[in-house]
Amino acid sequence: MSVDEPADPRATQPPIARSGEFLEAILDNLPLMVFVKEAEELRYVRLNPAGQRLTGLDRREIVGKTDFDIFPPDIAAFFREKDRRTLEEGTVVDIPEEQVQTHDGRRWLHTLKVPIPGPDGRPSYLLGISLDITETRNAQTETRRAKEAAEGSNRELEAFAYSVSHDLRAPLRSIAGFSQALLEDEDDRLSDRGKDYLARVRAAAQRMTGLIDDLLELSRVGRAELRHAHVDLGAIAREIIDELRAADPSRDVVTVVEGDLLVHGDPTLFTVMLRNLLDNAWKYSSKRSRAHIEVRGTRVADQLVLTVHDDGAGFDTALAGRLFSPFHRLHSATEFPGDGIGLATVRRVVHRHGGRVSAEGSPDGGATFTVHLPIAGSSS
Ligand SMILES: Nc1ncnc2c1ncn2[C@@H]1O[C@H](COP(=O)(O)OP(=O)(O)OP(=O)(O)O)[C@@H](O)[C@H]1O
Ligand SMILES: [Mg+2]
Repeated sequence: MSVDEPADPRATQPPIARSGEFLEAILDNLPLMVFVKEAEELRYVRLNPAGQRLTGLDRREIVGKTDFDIFPPDIAAFFREKDRRTLEEGTVVDIPEEQVQTHDGRRWLHTLKVPIPGPDGRPSYLLGISLDITETRNAQTETRRAKEAAEGSNRELEAFAYSVSHDLRAPLRSIAGFSQALLEDEDDRLSDRGKDYLARVRAAAQRMTGLIDDLLELSRVGRAELRHAHVDLGAIAREIIDELRAADPSRDVVTVVEGDLLVHGDPTLFTVMLRNLLDNAWKYSSKRSRAHIEVRGTRVADQLVLTVHDDGAGFDTALAGRLFSPFHRLHSATEFPGDGIGLATVRRVVHRHGGRVSAEGSPDGGATFTVHLPIAGSSS
């Protein structure tokens, strides 16, 4: 070669980029199905090995044929319609889900169809690239079914718990009513011991009525249709505190309600949430000669962060996670009465609004409950 001879510009590229083998190697090893049809009659001109494995068709069998020669008419008609659209519009068409007939039944594909222009600028070929999404789609369907089944049995269980709780109220009313009647009407015939026993029966029936009411509320909070309104949690907290003071006027409790406490959600459920949190703050601080209860709100991004704090009996933070499960209590009933349902109800209200709740405390050092709620509201 003479030194003056002009150099071939392609010679500067690595030989692999110049060879058709490069493209062939990509097509042959790609784990996606790739096919090419000519644009006139939509006859296959190419199918890569991944496409052969997927469909079970041999490339020699398929070349020169149309979809109607190969697939059942419904599938062929679907392919034809998308092919025509791709060629007419001259743009890439994305088909998120389509079915193809294979040697072992129908499979789901996510396909892109690409018009390939010829020398005159008009599409002369149609390129298709397909990903087999059958397994992912089946897994999604399975998960959705399992979720629906779980929700269904949860709903049944809830309905069962609700009706049992509800039906227990009538016999309990009888027990409480008749033991009271006995105490009043047979007073002169009852021994002191008999009266004491009856008084205990009555007190137990009343406690059980209280427990059932709490369980019914927990159930209602989970089932109720959510209303959507602008809610001022500060105004609700003040009302509840006034009620607590009125019911227990001998207590000395300093209360603070301040900050941004506006949120979107169900006013009734938020009242139930605050009543349970403030009932607890009031109850567990009852051994203080002067107690402090604080309700505060701040906005952090699109969330309202609400805290309810008291300086009462507190608890070990390490055990805080358990408090939100029904019937879990960290204090004995003789120390502080209660059923252990209140915080389970709080958590349910919060979750239904797309929020979360956590607790912190220290033994004899008070407790703080923190609720994060989306300000714009979110429902389930
Ligand atoms: N402010 C608080 N200070 C200290 N402990 C608390 C506080 N709030 C809740 N706890 C602990 O968490 C437990 C669960 O609270 P929860 O409100 O669910 O039940 P409860 O108050 O015992 O009964 P009830 O169902 O009547 O509300 C309580 O038994 C108590 O041990
Ligand atoms: Mg409580």
